[in-house]
Amino acid sequence: MTTWNLTGTKKHVLICNGSSCMRKEGEEITLAIREEINNLELDEQIHTSRTKCNGRCKDACVVIVYPEGNWYSATSPEVGKSIIKSHQDSSIDLQRSLIYDFENGEMLAENTTDRIKGISKVTKRED
Ligand code: FES
Repeated sequence: MTTWNLTGTKKHVLICNGSSCMRKEGEEITLAIREEINNLELDEQIHTSRTKCNGRCKDACVVIVYPEGNWYSATSPEVGKSIIKSHQDSSIDLQRSLIYDFENGEMLAENTTDRIKGISKVTKRED
């Protein structure tokens, strides 16, 4: 068991390791993200966590970055690395991989024409 001192961490990257994401290179993407953090010497700034399913299996492998609240569909280890590189290089365009972002405290879907909308969590009540 590990207990890190996370004081000073600037980003938390959640990497989905649920079964759907693991079938879509989740392990390779996890390792690529961690390797890129190491290569760029960002260990003290970026913390990663493996998670179980995040409920967007059609977008596997799902990678979530906080505090921005950006949800990405990392379709390859290279996309995973680009998510990390974008921490230092704002010119990296991740728009095509973006599923959701947070605006005004609310998650908003991005690339709605390319992605499955998913099952609504709100059901209308019949009066
Ligand atoms: S297994 Fe990753 S979103 Fe479901």
